[in-house]
Amino acid sequence: MKLWLDGGLQDVKAARVSVFDHGLTVGDGIFETVKAMDGKPFALTRHLDRLTRSARGLGLPDPDHDEVRRACAAVLDANPMPLGRLRITYTGGHGPLGSDRGVQGPTLVVALGASARRPDSTAVITVPWTRNERGALTGLKTTSYAENVVALARARERGATEALFGNTVGQLCEGTGSNVFVVLDGEIHTPPLASGCLAGITRALAVEWTGARETDLPLDVLEQAEEIFLTSTLRDVQAVHRVDDRELPSAPGPVTAKAMRIFDERSGDDLDP
Ligand SMILES: Cc1ncc(COP(=O)(O)O)c(C=O)c1O
Repeated sequence: MKLWLDGGLQDVKAARVSVFDHGLTVGDGIFETVKAMDGKPFALTRHLDRLTRSARGLGLPDPDHDEVRRACAAVLDANPMPLGRLRITYTGGHGPLGSDRGVQGPTLVVALGASARRPDSTAVITVPWTRNERGALTGLKTTSYAENVVALARARERGATEALFGNTVGQLCEGTGSNVFVVLDGEIHTPPLASGCLAGITRALAVEWTGARETDLPLDVLEQAEEIFLTSTLRDVQAVHRVDDRELPSAPGPVTAKAMRIFDERSGDDLDP
């Protein structure tokens, strides 16, 4: 396996980042996860644009899109696989031990892992911890993800694959690594970005392609929704068949099934929508 570090391909086993990298010491970094099918990245332009937005939010220099594209292509070429998780990580680089950032410039790593197609439906839980819709990192895809690690571990303990958060005012927000949609009276709704959720790329495409509305939703909408589904880079559109103790035995319901179909068709037509 090869990854990209310090401007070129390196063997995964030999690649080294400083133990003083600010990404490691304080979580000062950003990332993207890109789906790669048969060596081709999906929606790479949108991912690179979000990488730049996240970098600006953290005050990191703009990533060089040409270099990141070259890195992605080189890593994909070097590691052929049918379905891959291409991971772009960009950190504050070598720095002091506190929260001040160093001056040596950022670290860029592009790595690839094998992935498997997700099942059409899954179980989720809600967690008592909140997303902060007013934080300095709100809406940025940073490597400060330990809250997601804790929540996802809780989900796994309960036999679920995702944990859903409300925000500080009790509205539905997002999952640890996905956005959430509900069907009410046959219409699809998803929380607005003001809820504090990440501007998911799959979310944006699903909104564009299905006409889903962005609506403030209370967390307990999950108890009433006719259907629930998740979106993310590696889930695409995925139905929810259980939320906490509530079963939705017919998942994917008709509205979700249609959204899944539309997503498959449209994403198959254009690899960089
Ligand atoms: C917190 C969070 N919300 C939502 C998503 C879904 O975003 P995307 O569709 O761009 O993968 C992710 C990313 O994977 C995420 O980390």
